[in-house]
Amino acid sequence: MNSKITAIGVYAPSKIIPNDWFADKIETNNEWIISRTGIKERRFSEPDEYTSDMCVKAVQNLLAENPGITVDGVDFILVGTTTADQVMPSMASQVQNYFKLPNTGCLDIMAACAGFVYGLILAKGLIAAGTHKKVLVLGAETLSKFTDYTDRTSCILFGDGAGVALVEASEKLKIFSGVTGSDGSHGKDLYLSQHASVVNGEQIDPNGKIHQNGKVVFKWAVQTMSQKVRELLSINHLELEQLDWVILHSANLRIIEAVASELNYPMDKMLTSIEQFGNTSSASIPLSWDLASKAGKIKPGNKILLLGFGGGLTYAGVIVEV
Ligand code: UT7
Repeated sequence: MNSKITAIGVYAPSKIIPNDWFADKIETNNEWIISRTGIKERRFSEPDEYTSDMCVKAVQNLLAENPGITVDGVDFILVGTTTADQVMPSMASQVQNYFKLPNTGCLDIMAACAGFVYGLILAKGLIAAGTHKKVLVLGAETLSKFTDYTDRTSCILFGDGAGVALVEASEKLKIFSGVTGSDGSHGKDLYLSQHASVVNGEQIDPNGKIHQNGKVVFKWAVQTMSQKVRELLSINHLELEQLDWVILHSANLRIIEAVASELNYPMDKMLTSIEQFGNTSSASIPLSWDLASKAGKIKPGNKILLLGFGGGLTYAGVIVEV
């Protein structure tokens, strides 16, 4: 059985944090942040608002904006997140409990900013296996709770948000073959520590905050993502010109521009959420989709290439038809 994305929903906290918010905390300024990252503002969750709350709100928004769609019959929930409320229970189980969904498989995916796309690929596999028919795939993060506000190279990047896709069985092929992979040798270049103070035998800062070697990740992202776009097109026997839109994870506008330039693909077909929401990790792709959808850009029949990348360093990409 094939699968399709039936609907998308998102949630972003109401608290807007403009670039100037950082000016009295670290040595930075609005011009530097906009010119080096493309970010104008981001959203921060309330102190008592956690990733599971944002997952629930994204699903509620999907339901509110898509009359006729219900969560009845959802048989699997996948949540991409690296900022779960706690290690267990999973965020997926908390969504299951909120909506009182019986007989629903629940699993969190720890693939950093690629988590949402990993979820789509896994949902396609569950449906193709014939064991499942209706899967909620979420990407949700409260990065503001894990940010080191003394590190000016990273703290200006992150924001909070959530997105969800309802994936259902379909007669027609609407979610094409995906690509996944990881280069674990880069573990220390982007990490959020928990118990251990060593990654790949190398010392890390065990302060429970996000750390990244921005330059290394930037270079890896541009090189690898350009290759993966070509690979995705090749395995699906598609040409670049057949894509209506590309949604690369919104980590930095300059990464997106560099990949577009490398592929010779028009920048106005690269959909992003970086300007309004910053880097929201696994939530960035559904947030970009939702912004474009509400702007009237995405139309039925459009083909969209989705490609997430992040801590691991890992990546996942897939082409979908709306
Ligand atoms: O989502 C997961 C994947 N993550 C990514 O893909 C992130 C990839 N990396 C990046 O987005 C960029 O590397 C950063 C935005 C993190 C940094 O941008 P950059 O253009 O690579 O800056 P840089 O590290 O080369 O720093 C350039 C200069 C430095 O000053 P000097 O040494 O040239 O005097 C930094 O100290 O900018 C300085 N700088 C800042 N200045 C003002 C670094 N951070 C700031 C800041 N405000 N916030």
